[in-house]
Amino acid sequence: MKPVLEAVSLSKDYGKRGFRNHVLKGISLKIMPGEFAAIMGPSGSGKTTLLNVISTADKPTSGQVFIDGKDLFSMSNREMSAFRANRIGFIFQDYNLLDTMNLEDNIALPLSLQKTRPKMIEAKTKELSQILGLQDHLKKYPYELSGGQKQRGAAARALITDPMIIFADEPTGALDSKSGRDLMQRLEWLNKEKKNTIIMVTHDALSASYASVVYFLEDGKIRFRLDRGDSQKEFYDKIVQIQASMGESL
Ligand SMILES: Nc1ncnc2c1ncn2[C@@H]1O[C@H](COP(=O)(O)OP(=O)(O)O)[C@@H](O)[C@H]1O
Ligand SMILES: [Mg+2]
Repeated sequence: MKPVLEAVSLSKDYGKRGFRNHVLKGISLKIMPGEFAAIMGPSGSGKTTLLNVISTADKPTSGQVFIDGKDLFSMSNREMSAFRANRIGFIFQDYNLLDTMNLEDNIALPLSLQKTRPKMIEAKTKELSQILGLQDHLKKYPYELSGGQKQRGAAARALITDPMIIFADEPTGALDSKSGRDLMQRLEWLNKEKKNTIIMVTHDALSASYASVVYFLEDGKIRFRLDRGDSQKEFYDKIVQIQASMGESL
């Protein structure tokens, strides 16, 4: 099986000479189709920077990223926008729903922009709103929704184009623990049943324990890789141990 995403020797520096901040210092990783990977690490360790660089949102200082075998940084701008619109989905911490649209239109937006047939849009919106438990809220505007509902809406919007990879940056970061667990259970279901590949940044051990593999980032490098066995509880305990050994308190 070929990796769906491969990063090779990624480095990222910010700032000018003399004040250079080396945030990523040679990161290589492979994500296989259907994997659910979590990226963890202390605050400021470069998690968001890494996610941005592997998800087309930013460019590394050096190194390469291949998605489905395609070299991201050799694509033209035009190819890149099409790729972004069709092949990848994003879930952010702060939802990014449009206030002037109801939930249904927010979820359908990526397909509406692509001029997909209305029947198809309706069917996909219905399917995803059921998976994410939003079927009773479709006519509501974002200000009428809870944080958890907004974040599930953002997940539905990210998934509606059937992307090859979902990228999520701290998707539970703004949620209370119950809504956070609910979102993670649904992402886990999508990964298991629909075989969606998910790459998620989180500093929360419980959220990470829903993944199939966790990468720990420290000082710009991947320090550990931990695979989940059968038990989520044991996985969670190991994640907490590694976090503690890395000096991050919970
Ligand atoms: N656009 C930027 N310009 C300059 N420095 C940045 C920028 N983005 C992030 N950094 C720095 O890079 C480091 C890692 O940041 P980030 O990737 O956001 O960490 P994390 O998501 O793990 O908390 C921090 O020291 C941060 O200040
Ligand atoms: Mg971050």
